[in-house]
Amino acid sequence: MKNCLRLASLRSVGVVLALVGLMTVGFWVLVQPASHVAKAGTDATTALGDPLPNLTALETQMFGQGALTFGKDWDALGGLGPVFTQLGCQMCHATPVNGGAGTAATISTLFGKINTDGSFNPLTNEGGIVLQPGTNQHFIANCKLKGEVVPPDATIVAKHQAPPLFGAGLIDNIPDSQILANAVDKGLGIRGVANQVTDENGNPRVGHFGLKAQAADLLQFSALAMQHEMGITNPISPNEDLPQGKPFPPACSKDTEPNDNGTQMVAIYHFVVYLAPNPPGLPNANGQAKFISVGCDHCHIPPGTPSSYTTSPSAIVPVVYNGRTIVSRALSSQPVNLYSDLLLHDMGGADGDGIVMSLATGTQWRTAPLWGLSIKLSHGIGLLHDGSAPDVPSALVRHGGEASTVISNFNALSPQDQTDLIAFISSL
Ligand code: HEC
Ligand code: HEC
Repeated sequence: MKNCLRLASLRSVGVVLALVGLMTVGFWVLVQPASHVAKAGTDATTALGDPLPNLTALETQMFGQGALTFGKDWDALGGLGPVFTQLGCQMCHATPVNGGAGTAATISTLFGKINTDGSFNPLTNEGGIVLQPGTNQHFIANCKLKGEVVPPDATIVAKHQAPPLFGAGLIDNIPDSQILANAVDKGLGIRGVANQVTDENGNPRVGHFGLKAQAADLLQFSALAMQHEMGITNPISPNEDLPQGKPFPPACSKDTEPNDNGTQMVAIYHFVVYLAPNPPGLPNANGQAKFISVGCDHCHIPPGTPSSYTTSPSAIVPVVYNGRTIVSRALSSQPVNLYSDLLLHDMGGADGDGIVMSLATGTQWRTAPLWGLSIKLSHGIGLLHDGSAPDVPSALVRHGGEASTVISNFNALSPQDQTDLIAFISSL
């Protein structure tokens, strides 16, 4: 916690600087005439952390406002706690800029156990599934509350690293039907499964977000993150997580419930929904061809193919919670060049973590999008769900299960072709 707090004050300086920068960018965007129409993610002038091209003035303002809420440190008066992982979204989604990936320093711990009947138990009654080590006793004088620890009966302990959020709004607007169309036998022993989840309105949906595609959409994930990471209850996720599953002393929670009436929840969502994907770097034609010939493309679907994804023709964005909505041109009918089918694949025991989320088993993962891989590699962010693979070859060693045949094909390539393939994905 000491480190976390020291980081917090350093970060506020960063936030002020970011604010000044944002206001400048926001102003610049407002005074520019909309001179050209570029496809999302293909505009080479988009810098990391920028919004999508072609936002309206209102959308630009929503993004800018959201960036401040995403980038702020919460405190007990604003609803933080009683327990939490970190003080704000930007603590874990920060590399190399806000909206980016997490690092080993901020990795999350999840825990659970297997019941006697073989089913998975997220140990909610002992504070699971996410470990929240931070507590308000550091902020409220008369609050005595220990941070959570992994309970002794947890037999499963897993590490999950925050994925980068660049382009998340495009992923959010991929229709379920397109994802389901890829949940078929692709050959080479590959058949992805769509995670079936419930959205914030109780409707059945295909999972889009989370390492196991356990959340339907971006508004829902943002609301769940506010509550499970910072303890900020909101209209979508209204109940405080109980520390270690036990009632907490009333002194440890300062704000009225829900802590947020939906205003800050929607603001955070606005930042994430409009974050542009990073433009890919220099192409490597041979590497790209080999990526397809060995079968990586069966799960990491490349752009411009019949099975790749495009956002819905009228992407709807709520301006306020449960109120006015707009159709976003910037998010509508856009190619989503994410190099993922968003389906669950069994990657084998060596990559499994034992955590079950809806239909996702302990060895299944959502295909990791490869867009943005260049950013991870150039900033030393480890690969795979737990960030434990330092480079592409180590990530491929952990591709077992359904990916086994494709990995054998990769291993049979000449050293030059392997190098080219790795160079190709490393530029994305
Ligand atoms: C303690 C670190 C931490 C904090 C703080 C945090 N996140 Fe995350 N975030 C994660 C991890 C870990 C995952 C992957 C979770 C999983 O699937 O198990 C994740 C996943 C996500 C995803 C899904 C991305 C995808 O590709 O599926 C979104 C969206 C997200 N976070 C938004 C937020 C927002 C918004 C906040 C603040 C309200 C936030 N996060 C705060 C660690 C964090
Ligand atoms: C059966 C589907 C499947 C195939 C085939 C496949 N992958 Fe993956 N890939 C995944 C899944 C699922 C993950 C996420 C695993 C995890 O997080 O533990 C992943 C993760 C990765 C990552 C790590 C990305 C990151 O940001 O952490 C890289 C790199 C990668 N794959 C490259 C490849 C390459 C190159 C090939 C072809 C040689 C390939 N994959 C074939 C499903 C597949």
